[in-house]
Amino acid sequence: MSATIPTITGPDLLPRLGQIRANTPAFLLDCAKQGDLVRFSVGRIEAFLVNRDTWVRHILQDNHRNYSKNTIQYNSLAQVTGRGLLTSDGEIWLRNRRLEQPAFSRPRLAALDQVVIPAVERMLTEWEGAAQRGEVLDVDQQMMRLTLEVVGKALFSIDLSRSAQQLTQATLTALDHIVYQAQNLITPPLWVPTPRNVRFRRAVADLDAAVYALMDERLTSGEPGEDMLGMLLRARDPETGAAMTRRELRDEVITLLIAGHETVASSLTWTWYLLARNPSVWQKLRDEVQVQLGGRMPGSADLANLPWTAQVFNEALRLYPPAWLITRQAIAADALEGVTIPAGALMILSPYVLHRHPAYWPEAEVFDPRRFAQDVEQGRPRYRYIPFGGGPRLCIGSQFAQVEAQLILAAVTQRFRLELVGEEEVPAMPLVTLRPKGGLHMRVKVVPHPGPLP
Ligand code: HEM
Repeated sequence: MSATIPTITGPDLLPRLGQIRANTPAFLLDCAKQGDLVRFSVGRIEAFLVNRDTWVRHILQDNHRNYSKNTIQYNSLAQVTGRGLLTSDGEIWLRNRRLEQPAFSRPRLAALDQVVIPAVERMLTEWEGAAQRGEVLDVDQQMMRLTLEVVGKALFSIDLSRSAQQLTQATLTALDHIVYQAQNLITPPLWVPTPRNVRFRRAVADLDAAVYALMDERLTSGEPGEDMLGMLLRARDPETGAAMTRRELRDEVITLLIAGHETVASSLTWTWYLLARNPSVWQKLRDEVQVQLGGRMPGSADLANLPWTAQVFNEALRLYPPAWLITRQAIAADALEGVTIPAGALMILSPYVLHRHPAYWPEAEVFDPRRFAQDVEQGRPRYRYIPFGGGPRLCIGSQFAQVEAQLILAAVTQRFRLELVGEEEVPAMPLVTLRPKGGLHMRVKVVPHPGPLP
């Protein structure tokens, strides 16, 4: 016997299609007002929006084996990433997760500053010119270039400082198409040469060309190397002894490049936005870096002494979780406290919605990094805050992202203040990640080094 829960049917959805397309997170937030479990019943599709921490834990952790990534979200993403770590399931996923994990070990993360800081310094040198000329920068683009450069260098030892803009553009075009497909259930098949399809295919071809060139260069050098690419090239299947195929390698590399830069860029972009709108939070950040670093660039060892920097970033991830949607398909029927979940049902978990649950987050819309002070955080049930997901499919790059972002925040705040060009709110566009609509236009101002604080 299944308990009764709020149900939204096809006819209920029709008048809201515009809102769903324009702002799916806001639509889901509205739906969540009806209850922590909301059913969508459209034709033969059964979907559930799950917005209670214990149920999120059930799906992502306790009963994760019953929930696969065979969903529209991940199947369309696979058109770009193939079946890399993010979109694969089962044995192949487990083999590759074990294989890739050592690249995210503690010593490797501790050495991340050697990649991040030179990349930030290059960007800040350009910003000095921009500041003098009073130029307006698209901070979203700036963060995308920076984070692509970092992940390329850290995992694959490649210098993307010059080609980053092109690859970033190819990534955005490819991902944009995925979202378009997800929002428009009927779209021309990819072989039809519509301008959109042509753009998409060209973007994927650009990504492929860059990745295959990287692999070939390494293969012909005869030295696999010690980085992630080296690990993947050396890997042998424990049962068959076979190496990864070219296609498998390509899928893993593209997955890491895309998952490893767009998300971090989005979270940093929103952090700059929130800091600009909350000057007292910025001032506290500025004071912290000033006291701890006194003008020098941060290193990984400094992060333990920069708690406010971490809190600011975590709070930005709460309000603007780049991965705003996490989906699963129920393999067999299941039950969530008396409600039957039929086999094949689509489970929708939204960090964006969960992070605004009024019972978990008082004044949820307010940007307040004090929520992430150690003592406050300790008392919080784990699955109320899931910017990196949870359970065995927890983001493999979560620590990488934290170290990278905190280093960037501290390094930039030492030297610059970012100011918004307009007063108005910047709407979030729910693409594969949450991105500022039209970019984030800001002026960068050099902040004078004030000398030691009294
Ligand atoms: C702020 C930055 C980031 C955010 C918010 C984020 C978010 C997420 C989330 C929510 C998932 C789980 C998706 C699911 O369960 O369906 C995930 C998985 C993943 N992320 Fe991240 N991520 C970030 C940074 C990174 C970085 C830096 C890398 C790599 C360098 C990365 C690589 C991956 C991969 C490969 C997976 C799939 C892991 C698996 O299923 O085993 N991510 N990420």
